[in-house]
Amino acid sequence: MRKVLAAIALPALLAVSGPAAAGSCELEIEGNDRLQFDRKELVVPASCDEATITLIHVGRMSVKQMGHNWVLTRTSEFRDVAQKGMRAGPENEYLPPGDDRVIAASDLIGGGERTSVTLDVSALESGGDYTFFCSFPGHYGAMNGKLVME
Ligand code: CO
Repeated sequence: MRKVLAAIALPALLAVSGPAAAGSCELEIEGNDRLQFDRKELVVPASCDEATITLIHVGRMSVKQMGHNWVLTRTSEFRDVAQKGMRAGPENEYLPPGDDRVIAASDLIGGGERTSVTLDVSALESGGDYTFFCSFPGHYGAMNGKLVME
């Protein structure tokens, strides 16, 4: 009986440790109905070629009232991208079309939704200063944080 349990438990443990080990390249961040991300910093291991950022909107408000996305730019460029994004309107998901200063951008989502975006970590400059933010109008001032590579 004990052997049977061990045989069952081992694959279960592997199933847990597998994704957890790779999980360092898989990050999550939450947005809510109070204009907040749940973290001000995301750390991406420099060993990741790519990272997956999953944004979870834990609020209840619609995408039109309280839309959130996850956008990454250099810190020196984030305010200008956010301001031009606001003017680009909902048809562009509040991002300036074709602006190559946008390093990564998720879909815009509303309460109860989640979305993921892939980040090409190998294209980031080591020691570079990067800021993530929500580009929905009026959100970037409160909803921003630093992406750090370690
Ligand atoms: Co937002």
